Amino acid sequence: MNMRALIESREVIVCCGTGGVGKTTTSAAVAMAAASMGRHAAVVTIDPAKRLADALGIDALHNDPTIIDGPWPGTLAALMLDTKATFDAVVRRHAADDEQVDRILDNRFYVNVSTGLSGTQDYMAVEKLADLHSSGDWDLVVVDTPPTRDALAFLEAPKLLTRLLDNAIYKLLISPQQGVLRAVNRAAGSVVRQLSRVVGADVVDDAIEFFQTFQGMEEGFKERADATLALLGDDATAFVLVASPRADTLSEATYFLDRLGNAGLSAAAVVVNRMLPDLTVSIDRAEALRGELADGDAAALGIALADHAAAAAGDDERVQALVERAPDAVLTRVPLLPSDVHDVATLRTIANLLTR
Ligand SMILES: Nc1ncnc2c1ncn2[C@@H]1O[C@H](COP(=O)(O)OP(=O)(O)OP(=O)(O)O)[C@@H](O)[C@H]1O
Ligand SMILES: [Mg+2]
Repeated sequence: MNMRALIESREVIVCCGTGGVGKTTTSAAVAMAAASMGRHAAVVTIDPAKRLADALGIDALHNDPTIIDGPWPGTLAALMLDTKATFDAVVRRHAADDEQVDRILDNRFYVNVSTGLSGTQDYMAVEKLADLHSSGDWDLVVVDTPPTRDALAFLEAPKLLTRLLDNAIYKLLISPQQGVLRAVNRAAGSVVRQLSRVVGADVVDDAIEFFQTFQGMEEGFKERADATLALLGDDATAFVLVASPRADTLSEATYFLDRLGNAGLSAAAVVVNRMLPDLTVSIDRAEALRGELADGDAAALGIALADHAAAAAGDDERVQALVERAPDAVLTRVPLLPSDVHDVATLRTIANLLTR
């Protein structure tokens, strides 16, 4: 198995990793590589800086797939996750009628949750993935993950919601026989009072109203959360860990591998991005050249070469350590390019490097 085979065969590829390592770039390049193989690929990006839209040569990406034209036999489409629009669509899907939709969408608590919480973004990223996957329009859906502190928060999000909906206090709060705050029993009442003190009574009222309005939608939400988790654990799904060879991000990459393992999952591939280009000069040879050039015009070149060779060897050592933590993962190295990836041509270079 190599990266090419993964891109050729999987239905879902999730690119994860810590902030700034190249998740968005890799996701787009993976989808582009799939399109080059003749597949219909959609990439869900989370890139508020719009760097990717620029790179793809379009003004903006929306919550629905935009087809990117290019010289590939398949289809490349990209979309940028709009958390609120995705959440609204979920509410519409599960609500009994338009009135329930309106009441939820107008609720202040809902507006806060659907626009403000980072956990919601994680959850909606997997929701969008499930939506695209089940549409049948795409052979491959590639997901870029948000730069959250907790690398795997998106795996937990659907579970958290299910747990909340099963929670006794939630059940008490929504039980119809009571006039909201006053009549809840003592335990829930004290929780609500403490909450009110922290976040304000209005917020708590809004939340209770939200959960009461939400009634009847729990089953739909839970089924969807279960189906989404099953899809993430399915053989058709591959997790790709994007990492950098720099020492300061490597411990986060190993932590991430451990977290995947704890969730009963594993990384099918590790992409080490921004490797120092291999000059095929050994450290010893570079050191010798530095000595030979020391007294001439090219002394600075000798020093730069020796420094580069030493740094590249350090990169290699750290990559080796990472590979030992994920022995079954396909390893792909992508070199540091001379410029940012800000056009289709450079993105194709990365796609080719991933599948060479
Ligand atoms: N191999 C590479 N060579 C040169 N520049 C690169 C390479 N890979 C990515 N970049 C550039 O590095 C920057 C960060 O990459 P990218 O946006 O893909 O990272 P990210 O992991 O998605 O970041 P964030 O966590 O902020 O979402 C971008 O400007 C991108 O063009
Ligand atoms: Mg990104």
